[in-house]
Amino acid sequence: MPDSFSRTVKHLGRLFLSKPMAEPVDMAGRHVIVTGASPGSLGYETARTLAEWGATVVATRVRDVVQMASSLKDDLRRRGADPDNITAHKLDLADPDGVNAFAAWYRDRFHGKLHVLINNAGIHKKTLAPRKKAPLSGDGFEIHWRTNYLGTFHLTRALLPLLQRAGLESGDARVVNVSSGLHDRAENEDLFEKGPLSDELRYHSWDAYGKSKLAMIHMAFEIERRFADTHNLHGVAVHPGVVMTNLTLPQAFGGMAGRALHRISSALTSLVLLTSHAGAQTTVMCASTQPIQGGKYYERCAIAEPSADSQDPETAKRLWDQSEQWVGTLPNY
Ligand SMILES: NC(=O)c1ccc[n+]([C@@H]2O[C@H](COP(=O)([O-])OP(=O)(O)OC[C@H]3O[C@@H](n4cnc5c(N)ncnc54)[C@H](OP(=O)(O)O)[C@@H]3O)[C@@H](O)[C@H]2O)c1
Repeated sequence: MPDSFSRTVKHLGRLFLSKPMAEPVDMAGRHVIVTGASPGSLGYETARTLAEWGATVVATRVRDVVQMASSLKDDLRRRGADPDNITAHKLDLADPDGVNAFAAWYRDRFHGKLHVLINNAGIHKKTLAPRKKAPLSGDGFEIHWRTNYLGTFHLTRALLPLLQRAGLESGDARVVNVSSGLHDRAENEDLFEKGPLSDELRYHSWDAYGKSKLAMIHMAFEIERRFADTHNLHGVAVHPGVVMTNLTLPQAFGGMAGRALHRISSALTSLVLLTSHAGAQTTVMCASTQPIQGGKYYERCAIAEPSADSQDPETAKRLWDQSEQWVGTLPNY
């Protein structure tokens, strides 16, 4: 397992390098979904940028969709872009009925047109020390696995016919999976042997998060293997860098002293993390640049080397088949 010290040194070293930026691309006529686009997030910057470049974008989040919609539209107006390029919709990846309803709504509303699915939404419910019990979703899966991976797999399966059609008709459709450098905390055997129905004795959120992110790379690479030649549908995975977002904001504490401490720690944290604008660039590039090399892992707007485990096609195939079975057991699938 790579040590977090060398990871930190690498990140800090890169803060002093120039930040790669995605080159603007005319996205008119391209239909894009970005999951997890709350204000302050990577998804927000991704959705806004692609809409500014002319794409028809659906941005999702779980909570205050109205607030997200008005911020995104205001931002587009301020930049002289068409606010109608963005539509906002609620989506909770851990709610199977919600995923089905979203996919059905999208199909009807956009006449089945979808060129790029950006699977960006994710959670990390951080634990500071190992625990005895894993937090489980209502349907019994470890929560990071359920939200970050299985819910995303469910959504991708539901939208697959649309992406395949777009690939055949336009010659280029994509699934961009936002993973993380922390995927290397997990190994392939974790994906099966311990399983997602976790009753592990030592639960650590960082490992669970890493496991969900390893699975996101396998899913992207398997999409490339299954559908690139047959449907021009490509799958890529992204590490955005270490970025100041709602996910990385220091935990808030109650009371006046707590609030002051939170303000100070947030200010200090922001000094050593990328902005969400800089962090979104690799995802934006993967969604827009022509052509894209599929079946790859991207970081700093370029192909990078993910862990050896993530490049094992046997595991990816097995995980895909297993995930279809898991998703098949969800209510009303
Ligand atoms: N920030 C980093 O340093 C970093 C590094 C590597 C990878 N990443 C990955 O980048 C992606 C974006 O993260 P971020 O840093 O921008 O975090 P963020 O600001 O916390 O945004 C996460 C987004 O996911 C949504 N979400 C949470 N639970 C969901 C659910 N059950 N179903 C659907 N959507 C849900 C959130 O919606 P609500 O706000 O409505 O809850 C929010 O829009 C994540 O996949 C994360 O793992 C981030």
